[in-house]
Amino acid sequence: MNTLHKPKAVIVIFGATGDLAKRKLFPSIYKLYQNGKIDHDFAVVGVARRPWTNDVFRENVKQSVQNAVPCQEELDDFTSHFYYHPFDVTNPSSYHDLRSLLSDLDGQYGTEGNRIFYLAMAPEFFGTIANNLKSYGLKDTNGWTRLVIEKPFGHDLSSAKKLNEELRAAFEEEEIYRIDHYLGKEMVQNIEVIRFANAIFEHLWNNRFISNIQITSSEALGVEERAGYYDKSGALRDMVQNHMLQMVALLAMEPPIKLTTDEIRSEKIKALRSLRPLSVDEVSTYFVRGQYGRGKVNENDVLGYRDEVGHDSNTETYVAGKIMIDNYRWAGVPFYIRTGKRMKEKSTKIVVEFKDIPMNLYYKNDTDKHPNLLVIHIQPDEGITLHLNAKKVSASSIATPIKLSYNNNGIDGMNTPEAYEKLLHDCMLGDATNFTHWDEVALSWSYVDTISQAWENEKAAFPNYDAGTMGPDAADELLAKDGFHWWPISNDDK
Ligand code: BG6
Repeated sequence: MNTLHKPKAVIVIFGATGDLAKRKLFPSIYKLYQNGKIDHDFAVVGVARRPWTNDVFRENVKQSVQNAVPCQEELDDFTSHFYYHPFDVTNPSSYHDLRSLLSDLDGQYGTEGNRIFYLAMAPEFFGTIANNLKSYGLKDTNGWTRLVIEKPFGHDLSSAKKLNEELRAAFEEEEIYRIDHYLGKEMVQNIEVIRFANAIFEHLWNNRFISNIQITSSEALGVEERAGYYDKSGALRDMVQNHMLQMVALLAMEPPIKLTTDEIRSEKIKALRSLRPLSVDEVSTYFVRGQYGRGKVNENDVLGYRDEVGHDSNTETYVAGKIMIDNYRWAGVPFYIRTGKRMKEKSTKIVVEFKDIPMNLYYKNDTDKHPNLLVIHIQPDEGITLHLNAKKVSASSIATPIKLSYNNNGIDGMNTPEAYEKLLHDCMLGDATNFTHWDEVALSWSYVDTISQAWENEKAAFPNYDAGTMGPDAADELLAKDGFHWWPISNDDK
């Protein structure tokens, strides 16, 4: 893919008055513009129910990007590319009017009929919109048309299938870009490079040398204003089905034979096909759920989840699990995952724990042992740390742990691009590698559905962890049963 090529397109954002557009999409489009990744031949059409005008919309866009813009002139120039179109998703005239606006903009901005339809709104309308876009001729252009879909992609396998069929009736698989924003994160994209561009890792990357892999994605925030959505979703659907399993797939996949979208996706799909399926009865052996009660986060008293949602909810705000991958490379190596709201801090990290060597003579006793660890820091810091053993200064024959660290932010001297910026750019260039293929979505749901089924059948003893902690004790026991423990996500978290 020639990244020097600057894509031209009209981006239509459904749900343009919403939070995602304001927090992520407008700033990302601005960054692409500022960094010269897109030129002047682009336009953005905001579509939503509210009866806004272009001016009101542009004012909104200005507010969301103004901190990053050096001068008023550039701000005005940038926002002049934005148009607003009040819309009723079920009304044919909304589509007719949008169609003529888009062809006017095609002419005005020279976008060659290229269109991105970005659905950043309530998922119940995804199918209707996709079908109407096709039926009312909005896909009939001389250029390409692509559909970007935000999560949630269904609620379980059967609803995801139904949604996918609706979308596929209007768009080809190659035209559908399912967002998993973790795949746009710099260090998530770096997993493959760290693995496949380093002999010292790839040769050891298997069950002979790795004892277990731990993936933690913790958040300090609670559910805030998203309680309505979250209470029906829970951490399993919100984080595990997508982001956590995507990271598992990237860590577990075989090297692709080429760096093409199809080859990479096919290796990820194979890894997901190797997840050991659980039966409903086995769920409690492999997975732990939690919900936060009151506690302290960053010295502040915070409410428990049930206080926030105002009822006796059975929704999990925390999940820890042990995932087994039944293939030649990974047989016997647990992949432990944990994620939750209102934990001690915001952090996403991967720890690869290596097995000890057979005759390690440099420890006085077992408690002194420090296994080699490769830590991949996804956020907030970005980098890698390798934990090694070296001689303790002036003590003969005694090993002491040392760390080699690489910090991405430090080296680049600037913040790495936002996930959304990269993903939008990829979509404009037609590169779907960092979007999830339908098969990945389907395999992830079928793995997760058994867990939801087990949990729906049984009421949990919630709350079972205090806000501001690393989760319920049962998550520690999950590893202790196998002789492991969670590696700290920061120096003082235990
Ligand atoms: C989203 C979830 O997909 O990811 C949110 O819906 C969660 O509940 C968010 O907070 C976490 O993303 P990040 O990039 O902040 O780790």
